[in-house]
Amino acid sequence: MAAVVKDAYAAEDPADRLARDHLVQPWPVSGSIGAEARGRILEGDGIYVTDHAGRRLIDGPAGMWCVNVGHRRREIVDAMAEQAMALSYNSPWYTTNDPSAELAARLAGHAPEGLQHVFYTTGGSSAVETALRFMQFRNNVLGRPAKKRIVSREGAYHGSTYLSASLNGRPRDHDWMDSASEQVLKLSCPNPFRRPAGMAVEAFCAHLLQEFRDLIAREGADTIGAFIAEPIMASGGVIVPPDGYLAGMRAICAEHDILFIADEVVTAFGRLGDVFASEQVFGIAPDMITFAKGVTSGYFPLGGVMIAERLFEDLRRSNHSDAMFAHGLTYSSHPIGCAVANANLDLLEGGILDHARTVAPYFQQSLKALEALPLVGEVRGLGLMACVECVADHVSNNPLALDLEVGKRIDRHCQDLGLLVRPLIHMCVMSPPLVIERGEIDRMREILDKAIRLTQDELVREGLWRG
Ligand SMILES: Cc1ncc(COP(=O)(O)O)c(C=O)c1O
Repeated sequence: MAAVVKDAYAAEDPADRLARDHLVQPWPVSGSIGAEARGRILEGDGIYVTDHAGRRLIDGPAGMWCVNVGHRRREIVDAMAEQAMALSYNSPWYTTNDPSAELAARLAGHAPEGLQHVFYTTGGSSAVETALRFMQFRNNVLGRPAKKRIVSREGAYHGSTYLSASLNGRPRDHDWMDSASEQVLKLSCPNPFRRPAGMAVEAFCAHLLQEFRDLIAREGADTIGAFIAEPIMASGGVIVPPDGYLAGMRAICAEHDILFIADEVVTAFGRLGDVFASEQVFGIAPDMITFAKGVTSGYFPLGGVMIAERLFEDLRRSNHSDAMFAHGLTYSSHPIGCAVANANLDLLEGGILDHARTVAPYFQQSLKALEALPLVGEVRGLGLMACVECVADHVSNNPLALDLEVGKRIDRHCQDLGLLVRPLIHMCVMSPPLVIERGEIDRMREILDKAIRLTQDELVREGLWRG
């Protein structure tokens, strides 16, 4: 048996062998954990990446929803090198640095009124973790230690640290993992496509808001510290909530002194056309906004939380002036990360946000045409994020009767044709670099169209779908 396995790997590229022998990849399954080589990406340029086989692919998911300004931007590389030469690191425990202060002021300028402070982290999970720990700290200091449970939603994704992961609500997220479930309450996913049969979208929205009110009445507002929501659920399948949903949830939070945390790890930095989407796109002013990914367009790991000034005022007035928010990361306020983020913001403000706003309607309209294909149940999205959801048929809209690898099948065909997409069970998710042009959007749609048709034929041939 050992000899057979050895032969199978004999033609393997040495770099693949190193990965297989030494890397533990994110989200592995136990059958191949610590023994897996994933396709290698060698280069990136603009909206394209080149893989180990030399194929030039449109980077449909912009890495992992993050390469917003595109690959190989000289301005960012220069800012990174200059900052590394000037100051590569300083301890945020007892000093600060110029790029982090400049970035904080610029972010405050884009955030809703009152959110003028930022706590920097190393990414999205640590940003969510920071927001939650800050809520816990604040309620301890304010003398209400029971008011700490967190309301999240089915379909949500908020990270991979213990508390942030406890909020996740996608199928299979918790099958084999422990979580702080006693601290988390879940509401329904605000997915209009999956609303109860016969219910109008407006009624669905009212039903979701009532569900939150009922939960508060049942559990007690004095036990709930925060509600956290991605304005558009990203990894749950680009779920755009019904109009009025976020504003309604925001109002209910305010009524019950429950902090509203907008998790904008994906929706910020131009993905929906603005630096932050909460106010500009959805008309809400959260108490905290978490961000990461697009803040550096993926060139450096950085995240953070915007925090409303009023939350600090309470603390300053409390009679525990010595109570310490014992929370900080070695790489909070990293000078290189912040310099990269400033250069990234220069590019966004210097024209890329405008471009993203201009091409977004064309992107949505082009992909929507794929709904004509029998396998496609819905194409949805906003700005430059979109999802193609496959179903067994258009009457039941049932995804589960299909082969659950259908997203991967489409992705495989897309890669052969020159496009990377992100497969999610029976869905394919896209969030290309914001610099994408109309002609490239056309190419994405053509490839997807062909790849889905090939997948349809394949499923019929294998007896997995009736067509
Ligand atoms: C909405 C949201 N929040 C948090 C995270 C976690 O971010 P990170 O992977 O940088 O820790 C993600 C990652 O995809 C995300 O999509």
